[in-house]
Amino acid sequence: MLQSPYVTSYLTEHFGNDEFTTLDGYERLGGYQAARKALTEMSPDDLIELVKASGLQGRGGAGFSMGMKWSFMPKEDDRPKYLVCNADESEPGSFKDRIMLERGAHQMLEGILIAAWATGAAATFIYIRGEYSFPADCVERAVAEAYEKGYFGANAMGTGFSHDVRVTRGAGAYICGEETGLLESLEGKKGQPRKKPPFPAQYGAFGMPTTVNNVETYSHVPHIINKGIDWFRAFGTDKSPGTTIFGVSGHVARPGLYELPLGTPLSEIVFEHAGGVPGGRKVKGVIPGGMSMPILPAGLLDVPMANEFLREQKTMLGTGGIMVMDETTCMVRVASIISYFFRDESCGQCTQCREGTGWMNKIVERIERGAGEQSDIDVLLDVAGKMEASTICAFADAAAWPIQGLLRHFSEDFIAHIGGRKCPFPESFEL
Ligand SMILES: Cc1cc2nc3c(=O)[nH]c(=O)nc-3n(C[C@H](O)[C@H](O)[C@H](O)COP(=O)(O)O)c2cc1C
Ligand code: SF4
Repeated sequence: MLQSPYVTSYLTEHFGNDEFTTLDGYERLGGYQAARKALTEMSPDDLIELVKASGLQGRGGAGFSMGMKWSFMPKEDDRPKYLVCNADESEPGSFKDRIMLERGAHQMLEGILIAAWATGAAATFIYIRGEYSFPADCVERAVAEAYEKGYFGANAMGTGFSHDVRVTRGAGAYICGEETGLLESLEGKKGQPRKKPPFPAQYGAFGMPTTVNNVETYSHVPHIINKGIDWFRAFGTDKSPGTTIFGVSGHVARPGLYELPLGTPLSEIVFEHAGGVPGGRKVKGVIPGGMSMPILPAGLLDVPMANEFLREQKTMLGTGGIMVMDETTCMVRVASIISYFFRDESCGQCTQCREGTGWMNKIVERIERGAGEQSDIDVLLDVAGKMEASTICAFADAAAWPIQGLLRHFSEDFIAHIGGRKCPFPESFEL
């Protein structure tokens, strides 16, 4: 499943090798040297500056600078500080973290240990999606091995620094991937996002200063420490350095995970790495970054996969989950599935989100079954527009953007359903 051996890969370089999943094997392959170097030779401030200068951006969806986030942790504060590793990965189309947990748990733990030293954190909570039982087992085993060897707990690596790690399993709610929904769930409460400010760096897990990063983001850190900023910046673009793991699914010959530099053209990923659409059919549209990111039509696939370029096309990298749809696809059906998901997963706190997701789904389903009116398109755009930037968390934006994207590029599909009073794509997929 993992298409790893490209020269550009470093995160997944050893993923076919079972040795990499055990602590001894990981160390034989050079593991934990970066943590040892960080904890014994580098000050927390040096580390923060290094990660800032590397340009590493979060790989959980928002693309925020990891070093900047670390620097927000208050220094003059006696409260215990915490880290969270976000392994909730519930975005449809995204499956990279699962493989990182199954095959690269020590790489991630090493990144966590370095982040803990940089931020002065006393403990890390690894929050894993409820359905990921095997990945969670893999992480628990790796944590136990690392404790046994003295890499976590009191006097970590014999340095006098103490850091604990706890693994928590979620219960299968998409909204618990949003960092403050996650914190609520971690504390044993209903997973409903918090109003911000205060941000987690001031008031996070159990009210303590907290930094939340994604599984993949932590996993880049040991490589940056070992090989340096220039090496890291040689991958990717000026503004978006490094590689990332693209997950490709849908109508392609070789679906799977591909670690490639940021800025790789979407067309190269779809046609060369994933083998294009089978059966000689053409691509109709591609979602570039998980289901909440607006779709791109076939004519825009040359876009480099980095936020500075994707934003120009009114979409974003998100989690790098690329979903390919061929020419038989009904884009109203796609809108119907997407709007159903968001209606179902809204936590219901904000009116715009709770009502907006419900109305969008109702209208799209009406159009899909041939009972829509021309005015429905304007109402859909109006509802989606009112959901943007007006709620407690970005879920409502994530629900509105894909519908706006489908209407921007595929309005003819909606118009054909309304005019013809039925779906004109009999071969389109069903779930
Ligand atoms: C609705 C919603 C769901 C999210 N789900 C995830 C998720 O499953 N995993 C993740 O790492 N980040 C998710 N995020 C982003 C997190 O809130 C947060 O930005 C991220 O964990 C920070 O890590 P990073 O800076 O390393 O990317 C989600 C955000 C929203 C709004
Ligand atoms: S935007 Fe939606 S998911 Fe986020 S807090 Fe409001 S109701 Fe809940």
